[in-house]
Amino acid sequence: MTEARIEGTEACVFDAYGTLLDFNSAVMHCREETGDSAERLSKIWRQKQLQYTWLRSLMGDHADFWQVTGEALDFSLAAVGIDNPKLRETLMALYRELDTFPDVSDALTRLKDAGMRTAILSNGAPDMLNAAAAASGIDRLLDEILSVEDVGVFKPDPKVYQLAVDRLGVAADRICFMSSNGWDAAGAAGFGFKVAWINRYGQPVEHLPARPDVELDSLAALPAILGLENT
Ligand code: LAC
Repeated sequence: MTEARIEGTEACVFDAYGTLLDFNSAVMHCREETGDSAERLSKIWRQKQLQYTWLRSLMGDHADFWQVTGEALDFSLAAVGIDNPKLRETLMALYRELDTFPDVSDALTRLKDAGMRTAILSNGAPDMLNAAAAASGIDRLLDEILSVEDVGVFKPDPKVYQLAVDRLGVAADRICFMSSNGWDAAGAAGFGFKVAWINRYGQPVEHLPARPDVELDSLAALPAILGLENT
């Protein structure tokens, strides 16, 4: 998709939901209970979850991503006309053990084999991130799992991206940040990270003040983009 290279990277930092973890997998594991509403439910759930993070940030009324995810699910279930407390419980439990995308484990393994430092930087609350990383086994391929809970505000507040600089002790322009969320990629680029937008969902580029350095459709080409492998 692109010939671009990103030079001088000392740490690879990943968004979690939608980039490493497939948020649609929760609803897809409940296809029987959700029926024809499955795709709509999953889409509304994700949209509301993100909207609530931005709205809470604007309102100055932070709650962690676990609570926000549950509140977004309540809206979404109502929107598709499902009243099923047991299903709600099951979907929330599945959010703690989401599937990873098929390219994730291999790409992280190749980065680690090349000596790269790796981390998650996510809106997720620490225990939900730790649970999902452990359930999928990617925890052993990550040096750090960083949560916005340490700064008390959601992405794309620059304080979130600064957390990675501070905790990893790596300058912003030596961090390569990967997100499938165009708005997160824009926020991170504006902050000063090098950014690879993992455009898994075939979205148009966001018209925000900063743009990602490269666009990929999965993580498969990342090690080569970073100059860690011969293409
Ligand atoms: C995250 C959301 C934005 O993991 O996907 O931070």
